[in-house]
Amino acid sequence: MRVIVDRLSKTYRDRTGRELAALVDIALRVEPEEFVAVLGPSGCGKSTLLGIMAGLLPATAGQVFFEGERRDGQPLTATVFQEFALFPWRSVRRNVEFGLEELGAAPEERKECVARFIAMTGLEGFEDKFPHQLSGGMRQRVGIARALAVDPAVLLMDEPFSALDAQTRTLMMEELLGIWERARTSIVYVTHNIQEAVYMADRVVVLSRRPGRVLDVVPIELKRPRHEGQMGEPAFVHAQERIWGLIKTQAQAALREGRA
Ligand SMILES: Nc1ncnc2c1ncn2[C@@H]1O[C@H](COP(=O)(O)OP(=O)(O)OP(=O)(O)O)[C@@H](O)[C@H]1O
Ligand SMILES: [Mg+2]
Repeated sequence: MRVIVDRLSKTYRDRTGRELAALVDIALRVEPEEFVAVLGPSGCGKSTLLGIMAGLLPATAGQVFFEGERRDGQPLTATVFQEFALFPWRSVRRNVEFGLEELGAAPEERKECVARFIAMTGLEGFEDKFPHQLSGGMRQRVGIARALAVDPAVLLMDEPFSALDAQTRTLMMEELLGIWERARTSIVYVTHNIQEAVYMADRVVVLSRRPGRVLDVVPIELKRPRHEGQMGEPAFVHAQERIWGLIKTQAQAALREGRA
């Protein structure tokens, strides 16, 4: 599925009627089966952009188009939320099953599908646990399994690994890439972590601080499958430096204003 974001803007209005521009004139494309990272500082409108792509929020101006074939009943998007957003009263199995129930899948089909994604995300043995009994990394796997289980045409991920320690994060990045290589959905992956974006993405869309605008789109010329060893390669380092160069002045300005 191809995603086309066309001159999208979003202005929030609070209860007193005061306006806050979150996104201005965002244009970007995600090609079929492409992994695109959207990178930007805290508060620049990343979650807002994802929410609009998911159809959860209305845009103030502009549009999001989806182009491509979908199988019968295949949802356009599924989202892995920034806060794990699991149902605390549901077991791991029932959390993963949630979207399939919503889609009206038959019980047999649900069972088979849930088992497959529980295995794929390394959650075997945890099926009957509840979210509060899991580590952050495990919870995030549940969020990913739940989103993947509905087989969306586009997977939207909002800083899924930001709550994890560095080691777990590296492992999860590898696993996500493995899953993506098998599932072949288009992915929009929101993050404020440059290394994460470069490691995983085909292209990195760099947003300015709020109101978010596209500063640049950086192609990542690293072979796939990706591996940790590439983090020292010149292409990796150059991409990181280029992106850091783009956001550095922004970060400095934010610091000066005491809002970083
Ligand atoms: N419902 C809302 N009403 C008013 N303002 C909002 C609302 N949601 C978000 N905002 C504001 O819009 C801006 C963008 O928010 P958003 O959550 O999209 O940023 P973000 O890039 O995802 O931030 P973070 O990196 O902290 O997750 C912020 O200034 C935020 O305070
Ligand atoms: Mg956010």
